[in-house]
Amino acid sequence: TDRYAVIGNPIAHSKSPAIHAAFALQTGQKLNYTRLEAPLDGFSDCAAEFLAMGGKGCNVTVPFKEEAYRFANRLSARAELAGAVNTLWLDDDGLVGDNTDGAGLCRDLLRHTELRGKRILLLGAGGAARGVIAPLLAEKPARLLLANRSADKATQLAERFSAANLQATGLDALAGQAFDLVINATSASLAGQQLPLPPSLWRLETVAYDMMYGKEETPFLAQAAAGGVAMRLDGLGMLVEQAAEAFYLWRGVRPETQPVLTELRAALG
Ligand code: ATR
Repeated sequence: TDRYAVIGNPIAHSKSPAIHAAFALQTGQKLNYTRLEAPLDGFSDCAAEFLAMGGKGCNVTVPFKEEAYRFANRLSARAELAGAVNTLWLDDDGLVGDNTDGAGLCRDLLRHTELRGKRILLLGAGGAARGVIAPLLAEKPARLLLANRSADKATQLAERFSAANLQATGLDALAGQAFDLVINATSASLAGQQLPLPPSLWRLETVAYDMMYGKEETPFLAQAAAGGVAMRLDGLGMLVEQAAEAFYLWRGVRPETQPVLTELRAALG
């Protein structure tokens, strides 16, 4: 049986083993997928040991995605642009690193809304934001605005991608601007914090997407709800879609995501 794992710290609550087990069952693939907690200073040793013991590939999660980027022998173009790797596997020439987060986000978004020609606001300028910029731009939005608490960081990030429809600003400069889609890629929801966003950001037809998820509505989505936004989406769909993309890279088979998402949503309670 081929072995895979997800490496992170902490990792106890990772849903990746359940997701990949469901994909394997659905597609008739025989594989075993476990969780590995690497010490904070021990990602490469942990990954190297797993692969030396016969592991075929692994997913990488917080806080090791940048380290996995440096650890891979070869990178996909999208991993290169993201500066981070969430999926690794061995081939004949060594260890390949890819990043399926952005593709996962876009696939999940496209199940609910169009992206082409739309005005998109991406909140945050950390690793989570960086990983999804190129895939979002590939969907040809009219405009992608990066907004961050520290505007400088958003400006620097935007400069890495030379795209005419990509701009950067501070969170404090959003009043009066209109967007079709607002995506939260900050870690504020994780900390239970709301972002300082102008009420003028929200309209009934705005789509609000939080890359975080939880049993309760996230603080960001609660803000959108208070602003009258009808379509509010959390990151559980992105989690399942990025996993499906990794599964496809490893196994050459694309699993159906909706039944797995439905199951996970029910288990959240
Ligand atoms: P990640 O890898 O999850 O993106 P990160 O690289 O530490 O984590 O980035 C965290 C992001 O969330 C940053 O964009 C940060 O804004 P700053 O660059 O200004 O620090 C943003 N963030 C976190 N908490 C926030 C808060 N309470 N309000 C606004 N922005 C917040």
